[in-house]
Amino acid sequence: MSTPINSAVIDQACGVLERGGIVAVPTETVYGLAGRIDRPEAIRAIFELKGRPLFDPLIVHIGEPVQLGALTRDVPEVLALISERFWPGPLTIVLPKSEAVSDLITAGFPTVGVRMPLHPTAREIARRMIFAAPSANRFTRVSPTTAEHVRSEFPDAGLLIIDGGESEHGLESTVIDYVGDVVRILRPGMITAEQIESVLSERFPSTKVISASSAAAPGQLKEHYRPAIPLVIVSESTSISAALMKDLGIQGEQSIELELGADPILLARRLYSDLRTLSDLGADFIVVRKRADMQGGYWNAIWNRLERAATAIIP
Ligand code: TXA
Ligand code: MG
Repeated sequence: MSTPINSAVIDQACGVLERGGIVAVPTETVYGLAGRIDRPEAIRAIFELKGRPLFDPLIVHIGEPVQLGALTRDVPEVLALISERFWPGPLTIVLPKSEAVSDLITAGFPTVGVRMPLHPTAREIARRMIFAAPSANRFTRVSPTTAEHVRSEFPDAGLLIIDGGESEHGLESTVIDYVGDVVRILRPGMITAEQIESVLSERFPSTKVISASSAAAPGQLKEHYRPAIPLVIVSESTSISAALMKDLGIQGEQSIELELGADPILLARRLYSDLRTLSDLGADFIVVRKRADMQGGYWNAIWNRLERAATAIIP
């Protein structure tokens, strides 16, 4: 899915980053807005361009395990095993931060979220220079999974956008931390609790993996991932009436349904793209029908995003 890596473009991007600029970078999760961690002007520009509040920390990207040494002092064995198994890939690990990581990046927290991306372009840039990157969307909006999405988020920014094809996973990375022999999933993603448990089961049988409340992860606001028109989640049997919509404070009667299909991996890949497309078709609101069997595993990540995207949820 990802287009081949283009070293001239990577050189150009690294030049911009070197000079304290920012660049939109493709990753296997979603596109990111990258700035070098040792260029405060770049980090400030990222927050400004996104309209992101300063209490929401950025994820730091590395290309090789050895680069972790610059970001944190010690990595607990449990997290070392998890990183060996899932990096490069869609997993962010929260660790105690070193001096090299500014409070601006971590929003004042003593920890830093680190990820080693699998996408060859993002990984090559990270090998050359450690960069911080949030998703390349305006604050509260749906994350971009193509270069075109990034362009439409920031049409006038004169931003260098590297086209690396459609993001393979389509949802942001799983975020975990490790506190008191418990691995907490702070943001569910395409690395699931079940997968992490199975990696730990042999060497660390007493370590628990739990789904943490959204309060544990800064920036996991209730209103997030918002499409341009309202979205409602209903059960299979709910009938959509004008009166119901009016009760929910939704104007207009023209609905359009987001077809979920049966495969959460395929759905994740197209979810944000579909939300953008459906918002542009002239309907008043988007309807999502949740079936009882759509839960556990990858579905956790899907519902985590859709429930935050929703204006209303009718069980
Ligand atoms: O897949 C991804 O992670 C993408 C690509 C670009 O790598 N990035 C991404 O970044 O989704 P962003 O900024 O949209 O999400 C960052 C979230 C924060 O809102 C927070 O929930 C969590 O990651 N996070 C980052 N640093 C943290 C920390 N020190 N402690 C707890 N949570 C943290
Ligand atoms: Mg984001």
